[in-house]
Amino acid sequence: MQEKLESIYQKALADLEAIHTSEEVKAWDSRYLGRKGEMTLILRQTGKLPPEERADFGKRANEVKNLLATALEKREALIREHELARSLEEGELDVTLPGRPLTMGGLHPSTRMLRRIKEIWADMGFQVYRSRDVEHDEYNFTLLNMPPHHPARDMQDTFYTTQPNIILRTHTSPGQIRAMHDYSEDGTRPIRVILPGMCYRYEQITARSEIQFHQVEGLAVGKGIRMSDLKGTVAEFARRLYGPDTEVRYRASYFPFTEPSMEVDVKCHICGGQGCPVCKRTGWIEIMGSGMVHPEVLRNGGYDPTEWSGFAFGMGPERIIMNKNRIEDIRYFWANDLRFLEQY
Ligand code: DAH
Repeated sequence: MQEKLESIYQKALADLEAIHTSEEVKAWDSRYLGRKGEMTLILRQTGKLPPEERADFGKRANEVKNLLATALEKREALIREHELARSLEEGELDVTLPGRPLTMGGLHPSTRMLRRIKEIWADMGFQVYRSRDVEHDEYNFTLLNMPPHHPARDMQDTFYTTQPNIILRTHTSPGQIRAMHDYSEDGTRPIRVILPGMCYRYEQITARSEIQFHQVEGLAVGKGIRMSDLKGTVAEFARRLYGPDTEVRYRASYFPFTEPSMEVDVKCHICGGQGCPVCKRTGWIEIMGSGMVHPEVLRNGGYDPTEWSGFAFGMGPERIIMNKNRIEDIRYFWANDLRFLEQY
């Protein structure tokens, strides 16, 4: 036993010398001093010795155990010092290295155009009014003079929800009714708002049509508002968006919620009116639909059409961007392809 004790001691010391990492320290500790370690096991056997040898053996064994514990501590300190020195050396900072360039994000082209459009209308006295994306069938159609079986409903293919009569708005026009209800609640007041937002249509996605797109709606309601106010206002908008010399023309059209209705075109800024693929050889580019608010729609909004009148318009920012930048496929807008987005 005595001999075995001394040989464990020598072996433990020798092993300790060969240790270089904290992991090895841990393993050594459990091998010799741990609960099932060699020193613990041999101490437990003290009882098997003849009584007269027990005291001496126990004393020496405890001494060895303490010596080993001290040796371990020293070795551990030394290893930690080396490890620290090594990590400082490896992780050395070269403060003269140039920094990594920050990559800046950019705004989506639709966001930029929406901001530009809002800015122009704001300068002309229009407030931004936010209406909801999820609409009631009644607001999207009926109150806009399209009763349930009106053929004009076919113009818009609609996303229905599982809730009866709850749909995704197919245009921003229902916001007109919501704005009128708000403004007429405490006695009727004049209105001058734009309503920007996302619209949704259950369409086949193609280069020309998407299932979601933005619109910016406009609504002015007051006393004595006339068609000439509408024409002058949209022409001024066009000049602010396309430049002061922009030529504008009006084309008679039809929308159920306006009467009379017209479409607004600007002279093609790409060919100057000569005719090119962007303007489909017509020399003109359509920028919005508009008209005088239909008396029925004014009434549905809480305004008496014998006293009040108004105009409305609706435009598509993505279409405007496409024409300005000769983008031929609307699907680029929501495809999140950086090769497209980074051009703006
Ligand atoms: N809501 C129409 C559409 O989605 C656009 C529009 C046309 C809005 C004429 C108007 C308007 O306010 O007066 O096609």
